[in-house]
Amino acid sequence: MPTITYLPMNVTCEALIGDNILEVALANGIDLQHNCGGVCACSTCHVIVRQGLNSLTEMEDGEADQLDEAEGLTLDSRLGCQAKITDEIDLVVEIPQLNPAIAKLFHEGAH
Ligand code: FES
Repeated sequence: MPTITYLPMNVTCEALIGDNILEVALANGIDLQHNCGGVCACSTCHVIVRQGLNSLTEMEDGEADQLDEAEGLTLDSRLGCQAKITDEIDLVVEIPQLNPAIAKLFHEGAH
């Protein structure tokens, strides 16, 4: 069974082939932002894939267009709602610190 480890919280979640990065996060209590509800119409679910990029579905034009709007875009960036697992390979994805899920984490850590 493939897993996804989410950084910077360093939480590892079990996943299934066909799952996307956003739905695995939400199913495991990781509040990855998803303003459009996962239909490739925003860029708030932006993640940076640190390991396993090649085991995800290929990026389609619509995703590439939306990703252009994402802050902190990298060559390893994907939209969490569009990138699906295709292989039994463990992934490591980083949620950019601009994402409210991370801002909240740091805020809570400060108390
Ligand atoms: S949730 Fe809007 S593009 Fe992924």
